[in-house]
Amino acid sequence: MSDREPTPPGLLRSVSILAELDPADATSLERLARRRAFAAGDVIVSESERGDALYVLLEGKVKVVLYGESGREVILSIFKEPGDFFGEMSLLDDEPRSATVLAMEPSKLLVLSRADFRAHLARHPRVAVQVMTELSRRLRRADGVIGDLALLDVLGRLAARLRDLALADGEPTPEGRVLKNRPTQAEIAGMIGASRETVSRALSELARRGDVVATGRRLLVRHRLLRRPD
Ligand code: CMP
Repeated sequence: MSDREPTPPGLLRSVSILAELDPADATSLERLARRRAFAAGDVIVSESERGDALYVLLEGKVKVVLYGESGREVILSIFKEPGDFFGEMSLLDDEPRSATVLAMEPSKLLVLSRADFRAHLARHPRVAVQVMTELSRRLRRADGVIGDLALLDVLGRLAARLRDLALADGEPTPEGRVLKNRPTQAEIAGMIGASRETVSRALSELARRGDVVATGRRLLVRHRLLRRPD
């Protein structure tokens, strides 16, 4: 982690959970929030530590991960949209951090202290509802992942994850959706609870079936895979 700079005026009003503020509240919160820059690979939040701040992504990309005893990494989520926030759980339930959050590329974040975050929620019920809405969305997604882990084999989980990624981030083309900068095999492995070698074999199988076409970091996910229910 490198620099600490004051937040530029008006920035808070442009990020999602802080966007409801009237100018006076935004100005007072802007004085409290700090901006911090992290380099690729930096740990922003560590699992099991006490949480004392909320983070709002301004720029860059971070991943939320758990580590198994063998050091294997499971990726719970990736945040890359400005306004995405994390670190709220320990501030809300006073438990230690539930996961580790790492910068995947150079990233800039707003940091709000526990006291400022809680005071902000108490004063702005609409922001509290926005946070709850986002927590519901994350729980829904986690339910989907639990269902996939229990019900689908690796090929099915890979197909489901590539479909989600392509529908969220893929560029539409006549043949399907193209992920221009697809996750690495190791990252996909972390997302679907499999080893990198198994992901490599499953990707080859999807390619053999004509469901995907991989060219370097570019991956075409064909319409047939986008449509198919698991
Ligand atoms: P906290 O537990 O304070 O620190 C780790 C953060 O990772 C957590 O708050 C959430 O913001 C985020 N996080 C944990 N689990 C998930 C998940 N399944 N999906 C998205 N974000 C998560």
